[in-house]
Amino acid sequence: MYVCLCHAITDTQIKEAVSQGDMSLADVKKRLGVADQCGKCAKMATQIIQKQVDIE
Ligand code: FES
Repeated sequence: MYVCLCHAITDTQIKEAVSQGDMSLADVKKRLGVADQCGKCAKMATQIIQKQVDIE
């Protein structure tokens, strides 16, 4: 599912970024560019990151 429409970033890509060591929205923003345009995806992206960090 698309999380960030501005950059066509999916939840799977965000989860993979966490698997590669990202721990926060700032980290994933640096790696993928998520939430660096309109910012509407920031809340959902943060939730996905948090959930994935808890799992790993
Ligand atoms: Fe992610 Fe716009 S939807 S920056």
